[in-house]
Amino acid sequence: MVGTAKGLIMWYSRLFFVSLLLALVTSPAWADKCHECHKSRDFKVTNKKLYDYNVDFEVSVHGIAELECTDCHGGDATTDNFERAHKGVLDPVRYDKVPETCGSCHEEQHDAFVTSDHYKLLEKDGSAPSCVTCHGSMDMDFIFASRVKSTCQFCHNHESETYPEVPGQADFILSKINIIKGYKSFVEAHAKDKDLVKDLAVAYDQLTARWHSFDLDGVEAETRELLGEYRQAKAQAMKDRKDK
Ligand code: HEC
Ligand code: HEC
Ligand code: HEC
Ligand code: HEC
Ligand code: HEC
Repeated sequence: MVGTAKGLIMWYSRLFFVSLLLALVTSPAWADKCHECHKSRDFKVTNKKLYDYNVDFEVSVHGIAELECTDCHGGDATTDNFERAHKGVLDPVRYDKVPETCGSCHEEQHDAFVTSDHYKLLEKDGSAPSCVTCHGSMDMDFIFASRVKSTCQFCHNHESETYPEVPGQADFILSKINIIKGYKSFVEAHAKDKDLVKDLAVAYDQLTARWHSFDLDGVEAETRELLGEYRQAKAQAMKDRKDK
């Protein structure tokens, strides 16, 4: 619950402060008719796909963080009228709009992504991955290295001859990031030097955001460097734990 509350505070304070205040003043509860209608169990029989989308959403990081449908889709969440509710709901999730839609909350990833060739291609003709290619859309989840490798291979392979070395390099980087993640939780649990813990966590967030630039050589170098720093911090944290 703490993580959820923190996440909510983060984006409310950044972007939705005004609308939150308005909502508090003008209505007693969230007037989210979208979710209210979409969660109906009747759809399990009448529109299974629609039902599944909703279930996927509810158990996703975004569902748990209590995002509203309108955060990504727009539309009018105050009405039961089908036409009015759905006006324009597919526009913000069109492939070329997705980076901006997601980027309204995930600014660092967005800002790195727009520097990549992928972004330019996506805007031009859709021939590159967008946020949802790797993260899913309604079923938003953490990413797994194996899934990313096969995602890259779809376009980067020896037949297409466009950067066939890319999937291997991406896999290498992500496997190192996974090791860092393991060290990170150990260090956060046991290290005495809390300033170092904080600095390393900031560097970690910057690294995973930078990944989205697809400057793989630069990201690989930074990954190796941070792995070295975490390795040291972990050795120290093991000593700290023994000393306790
Ligand atoms: C209204 C704000 C908002 C929008 C729009 C949004 N997200 Fe999120 N996202 C969040 C919050 C809040 C979390 C919960 C974790 C957190 O606190 O960062 C989250 C978590 C995530 C995570 C898991 C990362 C982690 O640290 O656990 C990914 C991946 C993600 N979002 C991708 C996306 C993508 C892709 C889109 C666009 C389809 C998107 N988000 C749109 C607010 C948003
Ligand atoms: C009164 C019930 C109801 C409300 C309110 C409602 N929806 Fe829907 N929505 C549906 C149904 C039913 C469908 C499936 C329509 C179909 O399959 O043709 C649907 C379809 C959709 C689709 C897919 C559109 C498409 O063309 O395939 C999206 C996206 C969507 N809704 C989002 C929203 C959002 C966002 C809101 C609130 C702003 C909302 N809905 C409010 C019942 C509702
Ligand atoms: C974090 C952003 C985000 C949130 C929040 C979100 N969606 Fe979506 N939704 C998407 C994206 C992105 C797509 C994918 C479009 C695609 O695959 O082309 C999508 C697809 C859909 C579809 C299928 C549309 C189609 O093409 O058939 C439906 C239905 C839908 N959403 C309904 C909802 C409802 C209802 C809610 C609230 C309970 C909601 N969404 C919340 C991002 C979001
Ligand atoms: C080609 C695949 C790919 C694309 C495209 C992509 N991401 Fe990511 N994303 C990743 C990987 C890999 C990670 C790091 C995974 C990890 O943390 O282990 C990540 C991490 C994240 C995180 C969480 C950072 C963290 O702390 O772990 C967020 C939020 C996110 N991405 C949002 C986005 C948004 C927004 C877009 C579009 C602008 C996007 N991603 C596009 C693969 C992708
Ligand atoms: C939908 C197709 C598609 C997918 C999936 C895809 N790419 Fe790409 N990527 C491209 C295209 C097209 C280019 C540009 C090729 C050219 O310039 O000839 C490109 C270029 C690149 C470049 C070199 C250009 C730059 O921005 O530095 C890198 C690195 C790259 N991709 C990494 C990845 C990684 C890593 C993944 C998987 C996580 C991935 N790509 C997935 C289509 C894709």
